[in-house]
Amino acid sequence: MSSKVIVTIFGASGDLAKRKLYPSLFRLYKSGNLSKHFAVIGTARRPWSKEYFESVVVEAIADLADSPEQAQEFASHFYYQSHDVQDTEHYIELRKLQNQLNEQYQAEHNKLFFLSMAPQFFGTIAKHLKSENIVDGKGFERLIVEKPFGTDLATASQLNEELLAAFDEEQIFRIDHYLGKEMIQSIFAIRFANLLFENIWNRDYIDNVQITFAEKLGVEERGGYYDQSGALRDMVQNHTLQLLSLLAMDKPKSFSKEDIRAEKVKVFERLVQPDKDDFIRGQYKSGTVKGKKYISYRSEPNVNPDSMTETFASGAFFVNSERFRDVPFFFRTGKRLTEKGTLVNIVFKQMESIFGEELAPNVLTIHIQPTEGFSLSMNGKEVGERFSLAPLSLDYRTDATASGASPDPYEKLIFDVLNNDSTNFSHWDEVRSSWELIDQIEELWRSNEVPLHEYPVGSMGPDASFELLREFGADWQWSPNK
Ligand code: BG6
Repeated sequence: MSSKVIVTIFGASGDLAKRKLYPSLFRLYKSGNLSKHFAVIGTARRPWSKEYFESVVVEAIADLADSPEQAQEFASHFYYQSHDVQDTEHYIELRKLQNQLNEQYQAEHNKLFFLSMAPQFFGTIAKHLKSENIVDGKGFERLIVEKPFGTDLATASQLNEELLAAFDEEQIFRIDHYLGKEMIQSIFAIRFANLLFENIWNRDYIDNVQITFAEKLGVEERGGYYDQSGALRDMVQNHTLQLLSLLAMDKPKSFSKEDIRAEKVKVFERLVQPDKDDFIRGQYKSGTVKGKKYISYRSEPNVNPDSMTETFASGAFFVNSERFRDVPFFFRTGKRLTEKGTLVNIVFKQMESIFGEELAPNVLTIHIQPTEGFSLSMNGKEVGERFSLAPLSLDYRTDATASGASPDPYEKLIFDVLNNDSTNFSHWDEVRSSWELIDQIEELWRSNEVPLHEYPVGSMGPDASFELLREFGADWQWSPNK
């Protein structure tokens, strides 16, 4: 790995930079993955001085630093440039600073650009980076792009074209921060390091797969963005479909980014055209939970009072592959649900019972957050003279994120970019296929043939989401409100 690099962050005064990027860079620095040969150029419109920028960085890492001296030493690598992304002159200044820091830190011309601002500027930035020769073909040059990557297939394609004018696909790292989460990466280990599971990871043994991304919070102060987006674009196009591809892919030839990508892309390409009856949408209404009052989605700041935007989406995806044909991959995601929880339940088929009672299915649960781990539910014998079945669960769980044992997704993902490892990023072929599918569902919803269900705050979404599974003879395995 080369830790010699000049990192340029567009959007350096933003929330993401302060909450995620500076702490993640600091952890990489602390663990020795970034050495003395690195500098960070922060850009944003505000006229900050280097001293002020350093103080912002120091504050962002205050809880992580061993000493004020260490924090200050780290922050001394940070430089600030007030920057209007539309102004060519500013890129000329940026190039000078880039060259100067390259000399000063002996960064071997390696450059990393992080676009962490409103996506409408991504194309302009890429264009100027090329035209003003900041991207000059010397050293490595990599671009990290925050989500959302477009709002539909047309805008995503246009954005991609704009980026390709300055960078090759191999240089573009599209962030999906869920792919940086420890347990999502563990799916590779569960599936491909345990013959036990890999042998039964198919339609002969798996009845259905259930993916839940539940959030307790509402839209908070992001009403303006969210009302234009909705749950389907915000959580399904990216995180849900990425996770699904890891669950549904065939075994790659090797554990290389090329072979993994090839198998993931096949899943995206084999996603079955949506049927309008298989996708439901909902919006939270006002309510009281444990004595606390919550406003409805339509009353949230910056949300249209007549909004038809969904804060909950649920449905069944199908993958037309030998392995998984006709197996439903159910998903649900929403705001203001019972509690925060991301998990996957793999529900296995059962054999014929010889016990005179129906057998509960074995369920493998992958706990992604807030706890991390796996559990496997099985049927055992109840202790006693008589023979009767009793459920038992093998459970391996850690609260690794809370204890700091698991890296923050951004730390892991920046580490990957420095290693030129794009395994945990979204390739354009994946993004394109996912938008093709999501656009079709949006279209079905826009035609208003599919109702927008209201659901109470603190629930697990509208009843329709439960009915949907019942139509397939299934039930949501995770019921936190029971
Ligand atoms: C983001 C969405 O991608 O993921 C947010 O835009 C959502 O709406 C967030 O709240 C959830 O991420 P996490 O890591 O907190 O589960």
